[in-house]
Amino acid sequence: MEDMDTRALDAKYYMPAFGRTMKIVRGRGSCVWDDAGNEYIDCVAGIAVCSTGHCHPAVVEAIRWQAGELIHCSNLYYVPNQAELAEKLVEITGLGKAFFSNSGAEANEGAIKLARVRTGKKEFVAFTHGFHGRTCGSLAVTHKPAIREPFAPLEPACTFVEYGDLDGVAEAVNSTTAGVFVEPIQGEAGVIIPPDSFFKGIREICDDAGALMIVDEVQTGIGRTGEWLGIQHTGVTPDIVTLAKGLASGFPIGALVAREGLEFQKSEHGSTFAGGPLACAAALATLGVVEEILPDIPRKGERFRRGLAAHNPRVRGLMIGISVGERCPEVQQRCAAEGVLVNCAADGNLRLVPPLVITDDEIDRVAGVLNAALD
Ligand SMILES: Cc1ncc(COP(=O)(O)O)c(C=O)c1O
Repeated sequence: MEDMDTRALDAKYYMPAFGRTMKIVRGRGSCVWDDAGNEYIDCVAGIAVCSTGHCHPAVVEAIRWQAGELIHCSNLYYVPNQAELAEKLVEITGLGKAFFSNSGAEANEGAIKLARVRTGKKEFVAFTHGFHGRTCGSLAVTHKPAIREPFAPLEPACTFVEYGDLDGVAEAVNSTTAGVFVEPIQGEAGVIIPPDSFFKGIREICDDAGALMIVDEVQTGIGRTGEWLGIQHTGVTPDIVTLAKGLASGFPIGALVAREGLEFQKSEHGSTFAGGPLACAAALATLGVVEEILPDIPRKGERFRRGLAAHNPRVRGLMIGISVGERCPEVQQRCAAEGVLVNCAADGNLRLVPPLVITDDEIDRVAGVLNAALD
């Protein structure tokens, strides 16, 4: 076979669904290196995935050990680490039982199915600028016209309400509504943080209508915001929570956790790979690391807030958004040239979701580079 570099191979053999630039070949802690040996502080972190940093020794060791024992066995059997992980997720969410998937979109698919089968209702309410995944079901509750319209018609039927508009929610939710899908902070939209009263209001409207409140914590969960869940800042308890990204430090896994009594019965849902021994081992190790660093995350967020104060950042824990406008891609490039990876989310919003292990020195360096790029 002819000798081609990765970029040429990718162009020839991989479908061009992503706009790729650099090739990252190694990661440790908050840093990654590209194939030319350049070092970056990684405030993208696999898009809020590498929660414990790159290649955390505890996560690497858990995967290595489990890989030597049993990689896969099927959900036909009791799976090593699976019940222990379910117990831990129930403990941190305060809900009743868990079910695993392989991604965030799939966790939301599960939530759609669970809401339909237990309520007997078919329709959903979700929010403008919200993002819940790319599978047909999760896309049906995702708002952005550019990514959903080419695939219409999508099921389930979903009514979209302006994010933050409680009157709109009250109007949209009715006796046919199985559930309301909401992110505690909209991540893909660029870190949009509504007031706590919004979530309290959704809870009340769902209770009155007999609809389920489904909180998508795929991006905000597992310590990202300084609590285990983003919704825990608001004092509201949802019926279903979905998780993925930060749960296993980059090993693919998703989960839904539902309140007591809300569960799949035999044969109602399933998956070959979901909740396998390796994924659960990586997740358990990740949760152990996050538990230790969780109390310090709000302080780190405040350090970012102070460092970036000139640009009015929206900050909750280590989820940070800055409105930059059309200069966003240019700012992203300038930061990369200075050794800091950041990412443009929707509508000219710069998003920072660094590893939760980021150090004070790294935060200060990121703030310095960003301020220079923004000025
Ligand atoms: C809030 C939210 N939900 C769901 C998803 C989809 O997750 P996945 O890409 O793992 O399918 C994402 C991904 O960005 C997300 O941010």
